[in-house]
Amino acid sequence: MRDRLLAAEKVKSIDWRGEALYLLDQRSLPFEENWLACADAQGVAEAIRDAVVRGAPAIGIAAAYGVVLAARERKAAGGDWVAALEDDFTLLADSRPMAANLTWALNRMRDRLRRIQASADALQVLEAEAVSIHESDREANLTMAQLGVELIRRHQGNAQAVLTHCNTGALATGGFGTALGVIRAAWLDGMIEQVYAGETRPWLQGSRLTAWELESEGIPVALNVDSAAAHIMKTKGVTWVIVGADIITANGDVANRIGTYQLAVNAMHHGVRFMVVAPSATIDMALASGEDIALEERDGSELLDVGGVRVGANVRGFNPVFDVTPADLIDVIVTEKGIVERPDAAKMAQLMCRKRLH
Ligand code: MRU
Repeated sequence: MRDRLLAAEKVKSIDWRGEALYLLDQRSLPFEENWLACADAQGVAEAIRDAVVRGAPAIGIAAAYGVVLAARERKAAGGDWVAALEDDFTLLADSRPMAANLTWALNRMRDRLRRIQASADALQVLEAEAVSIHESDREANLTMAQLGVELIRRHQGNAQAVLTHCNTGALATGGFGTALGVIRAAWLDGMIEQVYAGETRPWLQGSRLTAWELESEGIPVALNVDSAAAHIMKTKGVTWVIVGADIITANGDVANRIGTYQLAVNAMHHGVRFMVVAPSATIDMALASGEDIALEERDGSELLDVGGVRVGANVRGFNPVFDVTPADLIDVIVTEKGIVERPDAAKMAQLMCRKRLH
């Protein structure tokens, strides 16, 4: 199956060309395909903050390349460039602090640097580390896709309707996608007859990105307003809700795009299974539970305009970007290290001791 999945990889949103990082600007999709060149850490941090690149794994990968660009500049400037690079780590870490993969990728780059310090080949070693972070996310996507398909097959042998939220596809990762990777692989295997994609107000990642990715591969997708989810679960024979994650805590709680929590509550009520798909880089064992997450809120004005046209009254908008789905509403978490059914702290700790499956 791995080769079939690789052959199906079409969209790419992160392109490292050696001299600069090129990002497919997700703000103008699907209407325009513009690539933005980032030549330094400042450019990468701005691209992350402004959602040119989004989705936790993609953010982590972009930040790793940002460190490479920063290291080149610092080394060329001379002096104690390793110490000076700390400012760039901070800049990148602050660009979108909610994504666990961002912290994870920056820690990996910093650990690598600590081991080599200012050695002659430090820049090459850092570049190789960033490329390896990118490649390992791509591999993790393939493993998770296969594990997710097995779960869908195990619970009901025929083609099914599934519901997803936000965008967790090629645009949000280094490869095939997390939740959307499972859906794409299940479709290739004849296990999906219909995908329902929530539009994901206010940035519309569902309408603009998920619908675009699925439609371009001929996967049957229907777009729904986020508030239609309970009705769809009740009337459309949905067997799985499949979503990604921005942070998974040590007890299996999941922070993801706003709206995910209400999907899990509705899924429980309607007997629909709830699957979270995320690489182990998204798991932060230092956070005991979702209570410990500082959830991102953005400016309320994002709710008052659609496409530059005012649609809201002149009031303050409350704009939480993420919510926390408690572990006891989750049937299964799929990672590249394996799956965790009915997650809890003990099972999550066991998972983190395992090696990657492939
Ligand atoms: O605000 P976004 O668009 O970055 O939110 C993205 C999500 O919530 C995704 O579900 C999550 O990052 C997983 S992406 C594979």
